[in-house]
Amino acid sequence: MRTVEWDGGAVRMIDQRKLPWKLEFVRLETVEAVAESIQNMTVRGAPAIGAAAGFGLALAARKSQTNDIDALIEDLLQSADRLKAARPTAVNLAWAVDKLMRIAASGEFNNPDDLRDALLAAARQIADDDVAINSRMARRGAALVKDGATILHHCNTGALATVDYGTALGVVRAAFEAGKRIHVLLDETRPRLQGSRLSAWEMEQLGVSYDIIPDTAAGYFMASGEVDIILVGADRVAANGDFANKIGTYQLAIMAREHSIPFYTVAPTSTIDLELPSGDHIPIEQRDPAEVTTPYGNRIVPAHFKARNPAFDVTPHRYLCGIVTENGIARPPFVESLRLAVAGRAL
Ligand code: MRU
Repeated sequence: MRTVEWDGGAVRMIDQRKLPWKLEFVRLETVEAVAESIQNMTVRGAPAIGAAAGFGLALAARKSQTNDIDALIEDLLQSADRLKAARPTAVNLAWAVDKLMRIAASGEFNNPDDLRDALLAAARQIADDDVAINSRMARRGAALVKDGATILHHCNTGALATVDYGTALGVVRAAFEAGKRIHVLLDETRPRLQGSRLSAWEMEQLGVSYDIIPDTAAGYFMASGEVDIILVGADRVAANGDFANKIGTYQLAIMAREHSIPFYTVAPTSTIDLELPSGDHIPIEQRDPAEVTTPYGNRIVPAHFKARNPAFDVTPHRYLCGIVTENGIARPPFVESLRLAVAGRAL
């Protein structure tokens, strides 16, 4: 089962807002519907929204009625802008859209139908590659997880956050499938509760031992000596190794340092943005305060109470032991190791 896929002229995806109560799929037939599904988090997780955007652009090409190649490219530019604007932090979205737009702008296609086919093939390839890359990355990362380890994890980085398999939770899965006895402490991850709703659902499917913990309990478990390693995902990694991930990651990194607990992010090279020298330049999405005051429609404070809702924070690279990629584990100094990883060189 894939989180997002092409379905005969439409984009089909799991509606992640309904989990863990219902496993439902939506079938989207316009690029606008795909952009909205990214914005409203029907699909979420950096690699999953990259794949969704790729299919969204392929869909836009098929829906455009024109027989003129220049007019088609003009339509695609507008769709590309709409998709990229859906969520700003995860670079995978822009990475996937730009990859397809380079094909459109290559000058190789005079016939619009040939370009439409090439874009769909490229979107399919992004999705297929994501699955292969994640399982390669997971096997590399699994070496960090000792038999008997308790892993602390934030947000959801499993199959649902990708096309399949997952990043940080992919490492957990690979360690489990290798026969290691592991336990996972899942931060519930307010306000959207990706940890308690989605990561716990995935652990249930796999049969991995876990407990959901309140985000505020992470320090308690670290201080009590229960946490052996912390694994998180990333939405964008800057050239120096600073990375944006789900809000709450930064404070985990600081506490990990205080308690000498190894702290790693797991991210495919499509999440690495070498154009940004440091995390200061990563755009941080600010979401609707209603997600804080009224999570999933449940009003927990009076309507006029004020709230703020930054969706991501930036963790400075100095807190990281390493960045697990599909090409190996990048170690400090990240400016060098990340360049090698992105160039596809073994680390
Ligand atoms: O807001 P979300 O749920 O899209 O945030 C997801 C995360 O922060 C993940 O940790 C990140 O995308 C990496 S997942 C493979």
